[in-house]
Amino acid sequence: VKARFQEEMQSICGTEELEKIRVAYLGKKGLITDLMKNLKDLNADAKREAGQQINQLKQQVSEFIAAKSSELEAALAQARLQQDTRYDISLPAKPVTGTLHPITIVQRELEDIFRSMGFAVEDFKEVVTEYDNFEAVNIPKYHPARDMQDTYYLDNGQVLKTHTSAAQNTILRKYGAPCRAIFPGRCFRNEAIDASHENTFFQMEGIMVGEDISISNLIYFMKTMLSEVFQKDITVRLRPGFFPFVEPGFELDIQCHVCGGTGCPTCKQGGWIELCPCGMIHPNVLTMAGIDSEKYTGFAFGLGLTRLAMMKFGIRDIRVFNSGNLKSLEQFTIQ
Ligand code: PHE
Repeated sequence: VKARFQEEMQSICGTEELEKIRVAYLGKKGLITDLMKNLKDLNADAKREAGQQINQLKQQVSEFIAAKSSELEAALAQARLQQDTRYDISLPAKPVTGTLHPITIVQRELEDIFRSMGFAVEDFKEVVTEYDNFEAVNIPKYHPARDMQDTYYLDNGQVLKTHTSAAQNTILRKYGAPCRAIFPGRCFRNEAIDASHENTFFQMEGIMVGEDISISNLIYFMKTMLSEVFQKDITVRLRPGFFPFVEPGFELDIQCHVCGGTGCPTCKQGGWIELCPCGMIHPNVLTMAGIDSEKYTGFAFGLGLTRLAMMKFGIRDIRVFNSGNLKSLEQFTIQ
């Protein structure tokens, strides 16, 4: 029986065939079962001996069939895999290496904070029209404020966005009033580069428009957001500042997050750090975006994301951000 079994097993190539063989040997009317039945004709000694042998055979046959069965299944799975042209999602993935850029870390953190306060997060182009960058935010042609911005002009008459305010018009039109939105983005200005100046940097603009929006709302949102970022209560103050697209306009300072205002190298002993230009959106800007400036008011701020990342991580040289130097960039992780 054993020899016959081994011979038959040689030619097996499918699970159905295997099942037939299993029944033929181990089934109720199978060969091995038959052998067992025949035991009763033997005397006690022969019975014991033959019984042992049959049991051994039975076990070997079972093991053989089980092994063959998993072999066949594996071959089947392999064949299925080769037919499948999509990804095999069961394969273990390579471990993820790399880290987020420090600006991305700060940007995402701010996005989360503002989203939780009901602000929409918007993206905008880097190449923009002169209209969006200037006219739409109340900087007419030949206005001296254009010189302040060291603009890169392109051959096609467009410009590299010099500030995220270039998206104000588009976003105000998209949402109408009331609205709350932030729009982070990369900005460009033709500046000489040194440890504290870059020609390519990130800002995050925020706007809130509604029927009774006032400077107190602006202060509240800035204070809440900055306290989250620095994980402590932050004191702010406003000084007058000029930007054609806000009236009144301010420079928002924070009390130094390192020394708490007593004076240290971070705040150059002054106790305050200039952080964020802001103000009440100029009625002309609302009107140009199709919003009734008699009915609605709003605030806008232009937070320097690059600056904020430097402060948060204690980065002293702005050139690190665009250097592509992994040794520097890999050090920053989400806290
Ligand atoms: N767009 C201004 C700048 O980059 C900053 C700003 C934004 C000021 C919003 C006021 C309100 O210089």
